[in-house]
Amino acid sequence: MSGYQLAENVSLQGRNTFRVPARANMMADVKRPEALAELFDFAMLRNGPVMVLGEGSNLLFADDYPGVVICLTMSDIRILSENASGALVRCDAGVNWNDLVGWTLARGLVGLENMALIPGTVGAAPIQNIGAYGAEVRESIEMVEAFQRDTGQIKRLSNADCEFAYRDSLFKREADRWVVTAVELRLPRERELRLEYAGVREELFSMGVEQPRAVHVAEAISRIRTRKLPNPALVGNAGSFFKNPIVSAAQTDALRDEHPTLPVYPTGDESLRKVSAAWLIEQAGWKGFREGDAGISSQHALVLVNHGSATGPQLLALARRVAASVSDKFGVALEPEPRIIGASFAG
Ligand code: EPU
Repeated sequence: MSGYQLAENVSLQGRNTFRVPARANMMADVKRPEALAELFDFAMLRNGPVMVLGEGSNLLFADDYPGVVICLTMSDIRILSENASGALVRCDAGVNWNDLVGWTLARGLVGLENMALIPGTVGAAPIQNIGAYGAEVRESIEMVEAFQRDTGQIKRLSNADCEFAYRDSLFKREADRWVVTAVELRLPRERELRLEYAGVREELFSMGVEQPRAVHVAEAISRIRTRKLPNPALVGNAGSFFKNPIVSAAQTDALRDEHPTLPVYPTGDESLRKVSAAWLIEQAGWKGFREGDAGISSQHALVLVNHGSATGPQLLALARRVAASVSDKFGVALEPEPRIIGASFAG
């Protein structure tokens, strides 16, 4: 048994949430992490590139894929150890992230509630250190298990080894080198709830919840997300298309003098600030813009949308125009958040 299954010339249109047309030269469904070594040998023989595809919720295909697209289908979740204060949970890469959030909350484990309803797989979560509503996955990760392409081995990386940063990690910086196969999370049974992010308390109030528990927070955040972000089942998108830019404190102060309503967040580094990309894009006049079927969501300015038949290159061209206009108007460079396959954002 090889542990993987290959198909040729596969359409990727139903496998990316932008729903742009693209084809993969080959696709491999991988059932066991040990099969990766064999598969990579095969791919090298063929001399083609390789990429891992989860739910396709954080990437834009700007072209057909000339190599092998790997889909990891391992989907086990289990508790490795537990005591009165918490548990260590192991989850395979192929599990849907929100299913893991629900699984842990149902067992009285907390820590993931603010990240409810983030699209994508568990394997993708550490790659860009997913986060929302005041929490990031790096806070809960104990260990990441990943196939290392150059050694052909499965490695266990500690939290520090992963070099997490805002929407970034070693796995993102060395994307060709790693395939995340499983994640281990340390989750407590009790933790102070994080309700400071704008809108969370209000949502709990409107749900009639007076003494919130983690499950209520997950429910409140799911409701906010459903309302604020366009549903990829209805309109193609990959969530935030741009990262919130990190800008020097001096430049932020100058921007704030001119634009007092610009939202600014701390970064943990006194000399740097994170500013709201959505605000910059909206002020530059792009919110709700549409040309053909490529557009900027009228619900949220950070979200690039495909209203139907936009192609990857059309969406990419629009994103570049948006970034250029924000750079002209505010002197701030925007970087894309999703992976762009088949082109570089800079062009
Ligand atoms: N804003 C606008 N116009 C808009 C939307 C927002 O001006 O159309 C301004 C508002 O002032 C708002 C502020 O931007 O208060 C922040 O907006 P929001 O709370 O939606 O957060 P964000 O910084 O735009 C980030 C993440 C989201 C995550 C939310 C909530 C990034 C790139 N995005 O967005 O993550 O859901 O915070 O925590 O960090 C994703 O990564 O795909 C994603 C959706």
